[in-house]
Amino acid sequence: MSTESRIRCPKLSKRIMSARDAASLIPSGVNVGMSGFTGAGYPKAVPQALAEHIRDHRARGENFRISVWTGASTAPELDGALAEVDGIEMRLPYQSDPTCRQKINEGKMEYMDIHLSHVAQHAWSGFFGKLDIAVIEVVGITEDGRLIPSSSIGNNKTWIDQADKVILEVNHGQSAGLEGMHDVYYGTALPPRRKPIPITKPDERFGEKYLMCPPEKVIAVVETNSPDRNSRFSDPDENSRRIAGHLLDFFASEVEKKRLPANLLPLQSGVGNIANAVMAGLNEGPFNNLTAYTEVLQDGMLEMLKSGKLAKASATAFSLSPEANQELADNIDFYRDRIVLRTQEISNHPEVIRRLGIIAMNGMIEADIYGNVNSTHVMGTRIMNGIGGSGDFARNGFLAVFMTPSTAKGGSISTIVPMVSHVDHTEHDVQIVVTEQGLADLRGLPPRQRALNIIEKCAHPDFRPRLRDYFERACNSGRGMHTPHLLEEALSWHHRFEETGQM
Ligand code: COA
Repeated sequence: MSTESRIRCPKLSKRIMSARDAASLIPSGVNVGMSGFTGAGYPKAVPQALAEHIRDHRARGENFRISVWTGASTAPELDGALAEVDGIEMRLPYQSDPTCRQKINEGKMEYMDIHLSHVAQHAWSGFFGKLDIAVIEVVGITEDGRLIPSSSIGNNKTWIDQADKVILEVNHGQSAGLEGMHDVYYGTALPPRRKPIPITKPDERFGEKYLMCPPEKVIAVVETNSPDRNSRFSDPDENSRRIAGHLLDFFASEVEKKRLPANLLPLQSGVGNIANAVMAGLNEGPFNNLTAYTEVLQDGMLEMLKSGKLAKASATAFSLSPEANQELADNIDFYRDRIVLRTQEISNHPEVIRRLGIIAMNGMIEADIYGNVNSTHVMGTRIMNGIGGSGDFARNGFLAVFMTPSTAKGGSISTIVPMVSHVDHTEHDVQIVVTEQGLADLRGLPPRQRALNIIEKCAHPDFRPRLRDYFERACNSGRGMHTPHLLEEALSWHHRFEETGQM
């Protein structure tokens, strides 16, 4: 599709209007499903115009709030702008915006953190209430009204299907060559009418290249021209290089033991700098002809596709730095042959993740000595981002890896603690814990052996003696010996940090 003719459907070209006019069609109190996943493919103009609209209402002393449902995190133009004017009543399912985070932690915005594979089915079941309006970024509209998805798909299919009214943002700033990269499956259903999801290889296609939307639902079409606003990843530091090194050594030994094939199993790599750095490590490592069945495709994976280390990748969204975004646009034909973008209910589908045998690698806030993992909360009460797809992949993957530097905030926090202050992934779902100190392989180990492994392999030397001491005293306390704890002390490390700024 050429850049000049992005809106080819005559019926829908009649609905073109300004972002301001489109935003005025969104009343207070409604549930709005917006596109957007990890800073990709989110609407850029309507949410900002809506924020202005809300500001005007507030100036007149009127309350104006909407609930915002997305695929995952968006960007300052959406989450930031709406949170800034206190325009969000309830947000789901994943965010990473500093203003949103602050409002949620101040109790001024409700937030529901949900496994990303669950969102669509919960919406279909009506658990969140009625979806009133969908605001979706697309790359273009075909003659017959089909929508060319943008740099993420997320929950767009569900939002369009479920909403009474749809507002489209056609973004001329997104590469027209994205057309054909997507695979939108229209066969999902609620139980008991479900059929198997027919994916046996990461790059298998079985859906549509386009999103379908009855033209009569579309109340506005807004044209934009701006790129996704993603920040740069930090260059891999010494800690992330070491984490990557431990993982690569582990994979090599698993291949040697014939527990993994030479080209490993399909990779899932989580959000953030550490996950990105591990991809950089794999790009320089000995494994070839790799594949990925993941949720988000960051710079590291794009580089692996470019180098040929990664043969094929399936995801629901990009999350690229401006440079990587340019690389994608400049070589879109090359990448279209190698990348499939799916709805998030399929990219994160437990059935597919289990069948393909994914190697799930995700960042975390902290792990405890038994291997319970906290991915979402700082000091037990303050949300960081959300669980994202980490639970979908960890619970159902062939290998569940969680990684973090062994300390945070300049060494004042140990990320290995006696008991996690919030649990996202229980010890039953966590097989490998990695820090720059080393890798603990917890498979086949009962709790006390897990503890010894995690303390000795993963904890920072500054904290290791105190963790050993805690564990030994718990074992000698005369209480339960299956998972020994000193309940009166288990969260004292967090408490001490809150009181003194040092664990
Ligand atoms: N206590 C307090 N703060 C901590 C901490 C701890 N135990 N561990 C990390 N942090 C802070 C860091 O200091 C940093 O803060 P800053 O931004 O103010 O510097 C921030 O958390 C991010 O940590 P970083 O080490 O840079 O890791 P990251 O970029 O790899 O992100 C998570 C780590 C856990 C926040 C991120 O992986 C995440 O949101 N995970 C949950 C969702 C998920 O896994 N999705 C993937 C599914 S596909």
